[in-house]
Amino acid sequence: MEEIVSLCRRRGFIFGSSEIYGGINGFWDYGPLGAELKRNLKSAWWEDMVLRELAGPDGTPVDIVGVDCTIIMNPKVWVASGHVGGFNDPMVDCRESKLRYRADHLMALGAVEPRARIQVFLENDADSLARAEKALLKYERRDSLDAVRHLVRPFTALSAEERAHAVGPDAKEPGTLTEPRQFNLMFETFVGAIRDEDSKAYLRPETAQGIFANFQNVLDSTRVRVPFGIAQIGKAFRNEVTPRNFTFRSREFEQAEIEFFIHPSSANEWYAFWRDQRYKWWQSIGLAGDNLTLREHGRDELAHYAKEGAGCCDVEYRFPFTAPGFGELEGVAHRSDYDLRQHAEHSGKRDKMKYFDQERSERYFPHVIEPSGGMDRGTLALLCEAYTPDATRPSGVFMKFHPRMAPVKAGIFPLVNKDGMPEMAEKLSRQLRTRWLVEFDPKQSIGKRYARMDEAGTPYCFTIDGESLKDQTVTVRHRDTQAQERIGVDRVEAWLAERLGA
Ligand code: GAP
Repeated sequence: MEEIVSLCRRRGFIFGSSEIYGGINGFWDYGPLGAELKRNLKSAWWEDMVLRELAGPDGTPVDIVGVDCTIIMNPKVWVASGHVGGFNDPMVDCRESKLRYRADHLMALGAVEPRARIQVFLENDADSLARAEKALLKYERRDSLDAVRHLVRPFTALSAEERAHAVGPDAKEPGTLTEPRQFNLMFETFVGAIRDEDSKAYLRPETAQGIFANFQNVLDSTRVRVPFGIAQIGKAFRNEVTPRNFTFRSREFEQAEIEFFIHPSSANEWYAFWRDQRYKWWQSIGLAGDNLTLREHGRDELAHYAKEGAGCCDVEYRFPFTAPGFGELEGVAHRSDYDLRQHAEHSGKRDKMKYFDQERSERYFPHVIEPSGGMDRGTLALLCEAYTPDATRPSGVFMKFHPRMAPVKAGIFPLVNKDGMPEMAEKLSRQLRTRWLVEFDPKQSIGKRYARMDEAGTPYCFTIDGESLKDQTVTVRHRDTQAQERIGVDRVEAWLAERLGA
């Protein structure tokens, strides 16, 4: 993971936010390559979910329209959605290190004996576990450590007495971790000049509620009829207790969500449709191998709105920091009619939130299947999947992005920066630039230019050499195989369009 983070910095995929002032924990900026990568991911989602025709379970096209709602909404929205009352994480403070952790992310290592020393470490964090083992070694003989090493329990399972003997992940003394306390994850702000309870508002913690609040507006202003979906891509904010693992758990991130409204009787069918559809979509953009998996939730994991539902699952990716386990990329949940009912009740617009089905002559609250994906986690998964060490290359690594996701689609190089080659290369570059981001690079040796493009994950490079001027052909170099072939310069645009699927 360190190598990926370092490449991201060096090549301008991702930087820490406001680094010149020492950064700010849980916030990340995308550099020139990263901004393109993330934009390609979001565009692909919008194109495939909203713009292109998608066949539903019975083969008829699925109806989805887009919205773009505000980040700050009337705070009553978040009372109705349950976020004011219940969007909490249990948090634990360390009195010694002054650090704060999510209680459910902490694990305890040590014997089940009332006075035994217990080392607490961060779940899915090999360094933290190694530190805990080393610290425990000081207090246990090696043979007895082997016996306790396997006694790993969630921190929340420790008794109060055991907690008094627990040493925090970044502490030296036992007993410095506080009892878990509930902590609301919504960022607060104030609207207008006066800062008091009445002007308090929240930065949205999910994009979904803007969709629910506009349910009737969309019905009234378009021709959509149940079953149909409303899609939105946008920023969401959560004051995560322990932001970590690069962009995986950030405090500001982007979601791509669809609320798909259905008749309650068809929940099973639509849930299965979206589960399979979303899994296939992530595969289609390059996460096609064993690192992607689909996991149905157990009943005990279901969210409050999904309890009585058809199901809930996560599309998960095996990130380097979760391996051999997986981390969530997207959740697909049957939210039942929870949100529409809540908004009907809290807004007092009971009938407005219901749908009138003319064919059935029935008025009801539609149920909702919600595929909710993270665009920053998606971008991170694309970066991790693409990262391919290769000792045979000068760069030692190349980024094997799916061509549709690659930030730069082609490199255009004159072999030498003279003899008419730069002019021919620039002309080709200008032609391709009308459709894609391509990089014209006349500097350095050709090997160094290929190396730069390998690190950027550019799938194809076109080189104009002495031959090109005579016979109007160029050399194409394929990123993954490093194989080269010659094609006519007049064919380059069509050749590229075919391979980029555009
Ligand atoms: N509307 C449902 C909802 O928000 P969620 O599982 O809390 O569900 C959906 O979030 C997706 O948003 C997650 O699968 C993940 O990709 C992304 N996400 C959630 N919290 C995040 C965080 N702190 N940092 C980055 N991405 C996050």
